[in-house]
Amino acid sequence: MAPATTNNNNKPVTKSGPVPFKEVDDGSVPDHTPKEEFGELVAALPRKQQSILELRLYQGFWLPEHWVPGTIVFQRRFAPRPDDVILASYPKCGTTWLKALAFAVMARDAHPPAHPDHPLRRLNPHDCIPFIDEIFAGGEDAKLDLLPSPRLMNTHLPFTLLPDPVTNNGGTCRVVYVCRDPKDMAVSLWHFLRRRHPDLPFADTFESVCDGTVPVGPVWDHVLSYWRASQANQDRVLFLKYEDLLRDPAGNVRWLAAFMGRPFLADEEAAVQDVVELCSFEKMKGLEVNKAGTSGAYKAMPRDAFFRKGVAGDWANHMSPEMAARLDGVVREKLQGTGLAFS
Ligand code: A3P
Repeated sequence: MAPATTNNNNKPVTKSGPVPFKEVDDGSVPDHTPKEEFGELVAALPRKQQSILELRLYQGFWLPEHWVPGTIVFQRRFAPRPDDVILASYPKCGTTWLKALAFAVMARDAHPPAHPDHPLRRLNPHDCIPFIDEIFAGGEDAKLDLLPSPRLMNTHLPFTLLPDPVTNNGGTCRVVYVCRDPKDMAVSLWHFLRRRHPDLPFADTFESVCDGTVPVGPVWDHVLSYWRASQANQDRVLFLKYEDLLRDPAGNVRWLAAFMGRPFLADEEAAVQDVVELCSFEKMKGLEVNKAGTSGAYKAMPRDAFFRKGVAGDWANHMSPEMAARLDGVVREKLQGTGLAFS
């Protein structure tokens, strides 16, 4: 860790990461985006409208159209640093929580989690960790170079679409993935989309989840891409489930910290509890910063849309037993023989 110095306010600062992305992002927008470079390629891809989103089928996954050019640039030009940590998730499966936990764990020397000035008490987790997919879509990837190491970044792309230097065995950067029971993901996604499209019927979102035409879907292929990678290389890819995080947050925080190369020492038990408390659903939802406005790349979404209910099993309030059995059946069939199961 780099030595601490002081800033203009005479507060100690450290030159090592992670630092909140908002502190290095000057808000500038480049003149050119990858859209101009790869527009023709994108226009030739299969297309599907899903509620408010236009999707394109790219390398086996339905990506939001505006992500495709950035994904190509990410795949071709991203240069990972050996100590990078990429937080990956299927949307609505605990991304915000994982971002908060990872930031709190990795930044705990500079920012003790119980401290009243902790960045997560004044910034939404999406302002602390940059969202690769939107950063590259907007041509803003040079901003990632400004982050001190170790860098934390997040993506919704499947493992198979990540750049070769991240996925190949010779690399050293790490990937943490969080997934969730697809039934709860479907309900969470519907509530999220309804913030922009209040009349959206649940049946529409449900059908899209079942046939795979959801953002970065099919969900089973997404989950399996990380499951297989974690099975093949457990030191490089950590596979977490939202339900396990709810059941045993402290155990998962210790595991996450060890995986990211910052294990909690025996005398840090209080810090583990402080991280869990700081990042708990009730605490985060109750913070003023998470109640109003928009964050990071999610300028179209109010911050409170990321903190709805935070439980497992809410699907039962939205799906008939037949719908649940149908989605469970599709997912079970796709995951058969892989050693991974949700129900
Ligand atoms: P629900 O809609 O089921 O409540 P993502 O961050 O990937 O968009 O996922 C959002 C889901 O995670 C939402 O689920 C949200 O309430 C839940 N969530 C957000 N922060 C959380 C936290 N700190 N602890 C537990 N769940 C959280």
